[in-house]
Amino acid sequence: MKSDKKIAVVTGALGGIGTAIVGSFLSDGVVVIATIRLGTLERATDWKKTRFDNNEDLYLLEVDVADYTSCEQLIAQVKEQFGRLDILVNNAGITRDSSIKKMSFEQWNEVLNTNLTGCFNMSKSAFILMLENNYGRIINISSVNGQKGQFGQVNYSASKSGIYGLTKSLALEGARKGITVNSISPGYIRTEMTSKIPPNILDAIISEIPVGRMGEPEEVADTVRFLASEKSAFITGSNLAMNGGQHLY
Ligand code: CAA
Ligand code: NAP
Repeated sequence: MKSDKKIAVVTGALGGIGTAIVGSFLSDGVVVIATIRLGTLERATDWKKTRFDNNEDLYLLEVDVADYTSCEQLIAQVKEQFGRLDILVNNAGITRDSSIKKMSFEQWNEVLNTNLTGCFNMSKSAFILMLENNYGRIINISSVNGQKGQFGQVNYSASKSGIYGLTKSLALEGARKGITVNSISPGYIRTEMTSKIPPNILDAIISEIPVGRMGEPEEVADTVRFLASEKSAFITGSNLAMNGGQHLY
């Protein structure tokens, strides 16, 4: 299917922030390839129906972002089916929180492979496809905890800090080719991911957010929408912090 509409790939689409990003792109008339984890097609089909009324511009493709070949195959399929790619949102991410004395090597590796290497795996093939049209928007979802660090998150914070280096370097490679690369660093957003934090710890964290509340996924999606638009052409290699004042620098 070749389309005049913009074509976007959103990883981790079924999650809280992913769902909000998909919704905002669809309402802007963007064709969205929502990537889902391997083996989750049934859940995703239900999600597409209940959340998006089976919107015909929404496609579901399976990928493991931590697997280089899986990402390469996904982008090859996008090229074959849609002919090009305009927007990539690297949103898939996981936490495996633990203080370092209890953290296993697997917990370290799993988080780095998904959050940081996953960003490389997707960006590598997507960037090459974007070069064909001298146009692209790559948006990487980092985190306030990549900026400030967080007790119990040496793995997650390292992965999210690593995104800044990847973003800045790739921005330089894309600058003359019409491809912008930016990151967004949300603070604590109300999703499945933050629902795993023990309530007493989460309450203590919220009490330290100056605006006095968590963020909503739709607020992140609005920022993604701007960075994905034509209007953001002069912004590249940047990080947009949105954390209710929790971390100012
Ligand atoms: N600062 C300093 N010390 C702390 C601490 C903190 N924040 N939290 C615990 N400690 C201390 C305890 O007082 C205790 O000290 P003693 O040994 O002297 O008694 C010690 O650390 C306990 O260490 P443990 O390894 O036993 O800690 P634990 O197993 O009880 O809990 C944890 C560790 C699982 C990481 C828990 O603290 C936790 O869940 N923290 C929340 C981490 C967090 O914010 N995750 C965000 C997930 S969502 C997300 O990441 C999205 C995003 O981008 C924002
Ligand atoms: P979420 O609801 O848990 O969603 C994460 C999504 O990533 C899920 O859809 C998950 O798939 C997918 N995913 C995980 N591993 C994957 C893999 N190997 N391959 C493909 N997809 C994979 O979390 P969220 O809060 O929306 O987080 C989205 C992004 O925002 C993450 O990068 C997160 O680190 C970042 N972030 C979140 C917050 C926050 O407070 N919530 C703050 C800052 C940054 P399944 O649904 O199948 O598990």
